[in-house]
Amino acid sequence: MIVPEDTVSLADYERHFRARAAPGVAGYVTGPAADGLTQRANRAAFDRLRLMPRSLVDMRGASAALSLFGQDMPYPILIAPTAYHRLVHAQGERATVEAARLTRTPMVVSQQASLSLEEVAAPGGACLWFQLYLRPRRDETLALVRRAEAAGYRALVVTVDAPVTGIRNVEQRAGFVLPPHVSAVNMADMIATEPVTGAGSPVFRGMLDHAARWEDIAWLREQTRLPLLLKGILNPDDADEAVGLGVDGILVSNHGGRTLDTLPATIEALPAIARRLRGRVPVLLDGGIRRGTDIVKALALGARAVLVGQPVLHALGVGGMVGVAHMLTILQTELEVAMALTGRPRLADIDETVLFAT
Ligand SMILES: Cc1cc2nc3c(=O)[nH]c(=O)nc-3n(C[C@H](O)[C@H](O)[C@H](O)COP(=O)(O)O)c2cc1C
Repeated sequence: MIVPEDTVSLADYERHFRARAAPGVAGYVTGPAADGLTQRANRAAFDRLRLMPRSLVDMRGASAALSLFGQDMPYPILIAPTAYHRLVHAQGERATVEAARLTRTPMVVSQQASLSLEEVAAPGGACLWFQLYLRPRRDETLALVRRAEAAGYRALVVTVDAPVTGIRNVEQRAGFVLPPHVSAVNMADMIATEPVTGAGSPVFRGMLDHAARWEDIAWLREQTRLPLLLKGILNPDDADEAVGLGVDGILVSNHGGRTLDTLPATIEALPAIARRLRGRVPVLLDGGIRRGTDIVKALALGARAVLVGQPVLHALGVGGMVGVAHMLTILQTELEVAMALTGRPRLADIDETVLFAT
């Protein structure tokens, strides 16, 4: 698979992906919830922020490295959990994890990966975290946690913003259905949620009866020594409650605008959460990160690191392992250039003074 020569930014990967992918697959990968207001807001809010540089700064020994939960990372960039990589490339997560290893990018593997969590971890050498949704039955959740621990995953990310699927009109219009060769193999042996029967709302009487609650987070905290993060937090009260229960990290996310439309952009929600937590646990952010300058802005407003979701699937679809590695390298280089041109030699030097206040 050859990456077109004019692919020099993450937007180029998206353009080539949209041109090549089958309409249903493109609708699933790029489609937002409802009218796409939150997905567009994620980008627009980054674009509205301007950077204010310092000149003639001593940049000797500059570095974008950090340590998170005792793990050293060369850049504050991680791969967000996204389902079904085999939808866009035959090798699926196997290709993504190889790119993660080569670029030393931690990868959060989705519970809905199209290869088993053991297969993704088998080659070794990559820093892996595991993302899960709490299952209706605790023994099933625990089984996933034990498998992730045994396979060497180094953190657990519990996604809390999608107890039901959002209104996914773009995907519906594109007629997306999962092809027979792609499935959520990690849950192959698990019992499906009880089918909804009789009268009443399938949303309220169905899935929500089984949805996770705070007491389930408190329970999970007791079950594992792995660092535990909650993904999909936008409200400072939720961030506070999570930390009170012993959660180790907060991932500010609106699921890339795929769940509830008209939620705020993540970069808009971040400052209040960072203020409330006052550094008690690391805050991470995803949603609309497409440039190195976006990363500088997120760090300036209180994030320790960021994750990218859609760009990984675009690059995987366009160029397989090489595409993902190239895409991540572009982002790493853009971050270094942005640090150099704003005069910020280290991540710790990136604070609100790097933002231009009008
Ligand atoms: C196709 C697709 C599948 C996703 N699957 C999951 C998933 O299985 N679990 C999860 O927590 N988030 C999932 N997400 C959300 C991402 O983890 C992340 O929050 C989002 O993509 C970040 O925004 P960005 O795509 O603008 O970078 C998915 C996103 C996309 C685009």
